[in-house]
Amino acid sequence: MKLYVMKDYDAMSRKAAHLIAAEIMVHPDMVLGLATGSTPIGTYKRLVELYEAGDLDFSQITTVNLDEYEGLPATHDQSYRYFMEDNLFNHVNLAKEKSFLPDGMAKDIPAECRRYEDLIASLGYPRLQLLGLGHNGHIGFNEPSDSFKKEVHEVTLTDRTIEANKRFFASKEDVPTKALTMGCGTIMHAKKVLMVVSGEDKRDALSKTINGPITPEVPASILQLHPDVTIVCDEKAAP
Ligand code: GLP
Repeated sequence: MKLYVMKDYDAMSRKAAHLIAAEIMVHPDMVLGLATGSTPIGTYKRLVELYEAGDLDFSQITTVNLDEYEGLPATHDQSYRYFMEDNLFNHVNLAKEKSFLPDGMAKDIPAECRRYEDLIASLGYPRLQLLGLGHNGHIGFNEPSDSFKKEVHEVTLTDRTIEANKRFFASKEDVPTKALTMGCGTIMHAKKVLMVVSGEDKRDALSKTINGPITPEVPASILQLHPDVTIVCDEKAAP
């Protein structure tokens, strides 16, 4: 694992955006795995700036997102589709038909999980997968459990995650309790993984991710087994 400790959130975001941009420049038609959450927002801002400056072209890029809440339509301002459009897709020359997320409104959730896993596999998995980190060590929505999940699956969110995400909703009761997420196995198929981590409240989870035992109780710890992981954090999150 390569760890960059940056001065603050802004420096972390710039570094992460530059690493993504470098990859896109070398592989302009790559599959880019994307993440939601507050941490990557600054990274997306910087990518938009690079695009606006004429330094980055997304026209041949395909994107696959890690996860989506169940039961929120794409028009809901807390759906991850909406988040991606708001923070990235609407501001760069990405082809919307080549930007994929799981469908949280699907009637048949197991079938949707299979469809999304097969889609990602048919694209050859991401060349680069961007990740945030949950306070409990979750990646995507892979919550702590007794086994690492291989493929796209449905999860019941832990109370800690619902508590952490309620700040975006009118009340805790409005936070969906279920989601669809890439499995740890899906994530491990990416050629490169780039994780962004910010803030003192993430330090413990990051320390366990890097130095702790590899255990499904800390889903991100599986990244220790991945051959090409870069973590960019700010000083407050540095273990
Ligand atoms: C969310 C997302 C994750 C994200 C994590 C941390 O629940 N499903 O992909 O990495 O929680 O979010 P934040 O960056 O807002 O702390």
